[in-house]
Amino acid sequence: MDLLIEIAKKYSIHVIEDCAQAIFAEFKNQYVGTFGDIATISFYPGKNLGAFGDAGAVITNNNNLAEKVRMIANHGQKIKHNHKYEGINSRMDGLQGNILNVKLNHILSWTKKRQAIANIYRKHLKELPNISIPKVDKDCTHVFHLYVILAEKRNELMSFLKDNGIGTALHYPNILPLLACYDHLNHSASDFPMGFDASQRILSLPMFPELEEKEIQYVCQKIKEFYT
Ligand SMILES: Cc1ncc(COP(=O)(O)O)c(C=O)c1O
Repeated sequence: MDLLIEIAKKYSIHVIEDCAQAIFAEFKNQYVGTFGDIATISFYPGKNLGAFGDAGAVITNNNNLAEKVRMIANHGQKIKHNHKYEGINSRMDGLQGNILNVKLNHILSWTKKRQAIANIYRKHLKELPNISIPKVDKDCTHVFHLYVILAEKRNELMSFLKDNGIGTALHYPNILPLLACYDHLNHSASDFPMGFDASQRILSLPMFPELEEKEIQYVCQKIKEFYT
């Protein structure tokens, strides 16, 4: 972020932070979403702070931007029937707002639980030669929306875990340039060797604040069993 902000300032470029699930992640003791001009958060139900249906928020310290975003989300109007922009209907429904208000009281403690779970995974998995675990860079905190490892024989490991009652997932199985909607760009996997390689080895292990230590140990024990 230091370098990005420096470049953006130099060339007068606005910085928009996509913080979809990064709420409470920090860089040099500063929360994400507070570096740039404006930031977005997703409250999709599966996110760290999820509503019961789709919702999202924009955060900014700039009053003009805040007002404009509010208007765009409300068909471009601030005063009823007085449309200054061609906006959209992106108003959060009250039910979702109420659910999020309650969840806001818990999000910090849930985040700490995710971090504690990641520490337990690390303790048990760090020595395993067949997998790589997430690394948290110096000066950063990670809020572990997911706990994604890179695994040898990923597909076989995934079915072995499934047979043992452990749900895992792929976030995401295909790299964007190879999706059907980008067929017209005529890309192949070799154009994106690192992204493609990662897509073949990633595996998201169970991660949610209510996971218990014995459950995490069971997951780790089964991963070890698979490789031995
Ligand atoms: C980094 C990132 N940005 C944006 C989104 C989209 O959020 P939403 O589904 O609320 O539009 C996601 C959702 O998966 C995401 O992971």
